[in-house]
Amino acid sequence: MYDWLNALPKAELHLHLEGSLEPELLFALAERNKIALPWNDVEALRKAYAFNNLQEFLDLYYQGADVLRTEQDFYDLTWAYLEKCKAQNVIHTEPFFDPQTHTDRGIAFEVALTGIASALKDGRARLGIGSGLILSFLRHLSEDAAQRTLDQALPFRDAFIAVGLDSSEVGHPPSKFQRVFARARAEGFAAVAHAGEEGPPAYIWEALDLLQVSRIDHGVRAFEDERLMARLIDEQIPLTVCPLSNTKLCVFEDMNQHTILDMLERGVKVTVNSDDPAYFGGYVTENFQALHDSLGMTEEQARRLAQNSLDARLVR
Ligand code: ADE
Ligand code: ZN
Repeated sequence: MYDWLNALPKAELHLHLEGSLEPELLFALAERNKIALPWNDVEALRKAYAFNNLQEFLDLYYQGADVLRTEQDFYDLTWAYLEKCKAQNVIHTEPFFDPQTHTDRGIAFEVALTGIASALKDGRARLGIGSGLILSFLRHLSEDAAQRTLDQALPFRDAFIAVGLDSSEVGHPPSKFQRVFARARAEGFAAVAHAGEEGPPAYIWEALDLLQVSRIDHGVRAFEDERLMARLIDEQIPLTVCPLSNTKLCVFEDMNQHTILDMLERGVKVTVNSDDPAYFGGYVTENFQALHDSLGMTEEQARRLAQNSLDARLVR
C-alpha cells in the first residue's frame, strides 16, 4: 500500500516549514552557525520528541528554529522539504511560515522570506511543484504584534497567498485577531486558521464567522458539534487534518480513535497533511499509511482524500 499511496498525486495544505526541520539538518545548521545545542547528538534530540500536548511540542519547535539564521539556512530548510514532496508525489504545497518566530530573535523578515521564496521558486522551476506561501501569526502574541508582522509583509505582498493563525490555541481565540485578519483580507490575502485542534468547536465558529477563513486547519473537534458538522458539510469547508500530529500531541489517544474517515464518509471535505513532519514521525505518505494501518482506509477513500486536497488549494 505504501508505494501506491506514495504515487498518488496529492497536495499538502498544512505544513509548517519550521516543523520540517529534520534533526540532521538542525545539527548541520547549528555547526554552520556556531550555535551550541543542549543535545549531544541527533539521537538524543529525537528522544526528546515525546509530547503530552501542543505546548510541550511548541517549546521544542521554537527552540529548534533558533538554528535558522541566514537566507541560505531558510533556503536549505525549504528545499529539503520540497525534495520530500517530490519523492512523495506532492504536486502542490501551501506551507506556513511563522515570521515572528524569527523576527523576535533578531532575524530580519526579509532574510527568512527571501530564502523561503527563492526555494519555492526553484521548486516550481526545477521540481514542477506548485506552491503558495501562508503568512502565519503566532496567536500567543498580541494582535498588535500581528499587525506589525502584516506591515512587514506588505512590501512583499506577492510572496503570499494567505494569512494564517497558529501556536498555542487554548486561551487565544480567533476573535483576538479579528482586526488584523480584516485588514489582511482588504489587502487581498485569503485567510485560514488553526481551530479545533485543542480548542473547542466555538473557535471553529469564530474562525469562520469572524476571520472569514477559506479552510480550517485541524478542525477535528468539530465532531463534537452537530450543527457545526452540518455547516462544514453544507458549505464544503475544507479541513486540513494531520493524523500523526494528532496522536503525537494526544488530541487522540490512539490512531484507531481518529475520526477523519467518519468525517469523510459524512461528506466533510477533509484532507491529509503532515503539520510538523520532522517532529511527528512522517510526511504525507506516512500519514496516509497510518490511516490504512489503524483505520482500514481503502484505496477509494485515499483517492477521495487526495482529490479533496487538490480541490482545496487556494492557488493553482
Ligand atoms: N505550530 C506548528 N505546529 C502547530 C500546530 N500543530 N498547532 C498550532 N501551532 C503550530
Ligand atoms: Zn499546524
